[in-house]
Amino acid sequence: MLINTPPSSDQNSNITSKILVTGGAGYIGSHTTLALLNAGFNVIVLDNLTNSSAESLSRVQRISGKTLEFIQGDVRDRKLLDHLFTTHSIGAVLHFAGLKAVGESVVKPLDYFSNNVVGSVNLCEAMAHAQVFNLVFSSSATVYGTPKEMPISESFPTAEPTNPYGHTKLIIEDFLQSLAKSDPRWSIALLRYFNPVGAHQSGLIGEAPNGTPNNLMPYMSQVAIGKLKFLSVFGTDYPTHDGTGVRDYIHVLDLADGHLSALKAISNRTGVNIWNLGTGIGYSVLELIRAFELASGQAVTYQIAERRPGDIAECWADPTKAADELGWKANRGLTEMMTDTWRWQQANPEGYGG
Ligand code: NAD
Ligand code: UFG
Repeated sequence: MLINTPPSSDQNSNITSKILVTGGAGYIGSHTTLALLNAGFNVIVLDNLTNSSAESLSRVQRISGKTLEFIQGDVRDRKLLDHLFTTHSIGAVLHFAGLKAVGESVVKPLDYFSNNVVGSVNLCEAMAHAQVFNLVFSSSATVYGTPKEMPISESFPTAEPTNPYGHTKLIIEDFLQSLAKSDPRWSIALLRYFNPVGAHQSGLIGEAPNGTPNNLMPYMSQVAIGKLKFLSVFGTDYPTHDGTGVRDYIHVLDLADGHLSALKAISNRTGVNIWNLGTGIGYSVLELIRAFELASGQAVTYQIAERRPGDIAECWADPTKAADELGWKANRGLTEMMTDTWRWQQANPEGYGG
């Protein structure tokens, strides 16, 4: 089934198929939902709000001046999914819903296998039943494990993950491959994200982690705003140029645009297509701290700490395949990532609850 390309804004009533966005109230999902609305798509968001707030979607509507449909519910609820697919003409699904905290996944593997793996299988069953075969899945660079060299291209082998979260991503990728082999009507994009950071330039939507953040960017911005005392720099003895971990940080708005490009691309393809979504540039933890201090004008207090178990030294993408096949590349640089994060953090010190 082809995904209807969005009509110009004065033709909105002619849109016949909609995009279902699972996990659309979350960090990446909300920015992608905004991009979809801005591009003229009709959007239905399904989210159980376990790690988000419906306020993000109110703000998405405010920024875009457009409306979306929100269903609070779980991707594991097959009855609800069947109802959704029966009552709406859905052309494609962007599947963000799932749990993503690496450390928590070690403590609560069942939650991760249930929400991520069972949820994805359930979603695909409902899609097949409804004859909807276009799917964009949120995968992760974590599936590459510890690659032998940089940059990482899609042809690199996947590797045994070091934690249950990573396992769920690899298992889902594998079963989506099997699914596509079993039925040529499937057209699936596996988008392997590198490290999403940043926020919409309005300062209205951004990353709002529950409790103490695990990731560098939200942790650092909470130190800068005074909510947390200091940042721990996990390891200064890595074989990198300054000894700290190197990652490919990508602005969430670039990531959102990547989803629109993938959505368009899979409407002309079948089978599984894998694309890295990264910038192709690696920055160290210390470089990130300096860039954030410059952009925010705030000092970030930090202490050197032990390496965090499971971390790799460096990880950055070869984004050539996405550029060649999707015509997409990340356009926003480190300063914009830092400035936008800081604007969001300052305006929303308590996330969406503030
Ligand atoms: P997020 O937690 O902000 O968003 C995920 C959303 O899914 C949340 O709104 C949550 O409430 C919802 N959700 C969780 N389980 C659900 C369920 N069973 N049914 C319905 N909704 C459910 O996370 P994010 O950073 O926006 O990540 C989105 C996707 O991208 C996830 O699949 C994540 O694993 C993947 N990813 C994220 C990163 C990252 O660093 N943020 C990196 C690589 C991949
Ligand atoms: N780091 C610190 N201090 C912190 C947090 C992180 O020094 O408080 C360091 C880490 O050691 C690493 C870098 O900052 O070198 C980035 O760490 P993040 O936790 O922000 O991100 P990761 O690269 O560990 O993992 C993220 C997502 C994963 C995803 C992976 C690849 O959390 O889900 O990117 O896409 F799998």
